[in-house]
Amino acid sequence: MNSTLDIIKQRTSVNKFDPTKTISENEIKDLVSYACEAPSSFNIQHWRFIALTNKTEKEKLKAVAFNQEKITDAAVTFIVLGDMKGIEKMPEILSSIKKTNLIDQQILDAWQQMANGMYKENPILERDEAIRSASLAAMTLMLAAQAKGYASGAMIGFDPEGVKKEFQIPDRYVPVMLIAVGYLSKGNWPRKPRLPLDSILSFNKIKQF
Ligand SMILES: Cc1cc2nc3c(=O)[nH]c(=O)nc-3n(C[C@H](O)[C@H](O)[C@H](O)COP(=O)(O)O)c2cc1C
Repeated sequence: MNSTLDIIKQRTSVNKFDPTKTISENEIKDLVSYACEAPSSFNIQHWRFIALTNKTEKEKLKAVAFNQEKITDAAVTFIVLGDMKGIEKMPEILSSIKKTNLIDQQILDAWQQMANGMYKENPILERDEAIRSASLAAMTLMLAAQAKGYASGAMIGFDPEGVKKEFQIPDRYVPVMLIAVGYLSKGNWPRKPRLPLDSILSFNKIKQF
């Protein structure tokens, strides 16, 4: 079994998937259950996923995503959404935490109050938070896919309004990214280099990056 650190280093964005291979719904559910282990502000879990496994649905998505072939070639392509009204699920979320007796009611009440104060009537923060949470879940999904021996590819190359219209997605959800997951085929690029650490990291104060 590969270590987490190996998996992080092995993941690449894949363009060419084997179009003959599928992934079962149970396995897709398992993948998403790992994605949901991602952290989120107040545990609001703003992420939502539409898993496209059906060729017709994948073709519809491809048409509003610059015809990226990987959308139809991958076994499953996820539309990752962020729920800008995720806070509405907080009573349900807090009551499930309460049942575990992990956190006192007083603290949970304070969470609800703080979250209301932060997000209600602050549409920019609601949107930022939805994108932040969904992005963390998206990364977790890609790492889980890698750990299970699949390949993945994130995409922002799509028309968000077109995606919303095609899949009748209500306005409270922001399309965050697409993620193709499937089996590796030939002709993919190897790992791409990253910026040197000293050009992206400073200690204790900002520097001229
Ligand atoms: C949010 C996001 C959006 C991306 N959008 C696309 C895309 O639309 N099409 C594409 O071919 N690659 C896309 N990529 C892949 C990037 O090009 C890739 O992550 C980057 O070149 C680094 O390569 P690596 O992931 O293999 O390390 C996207 C990646 C991310 C994280």
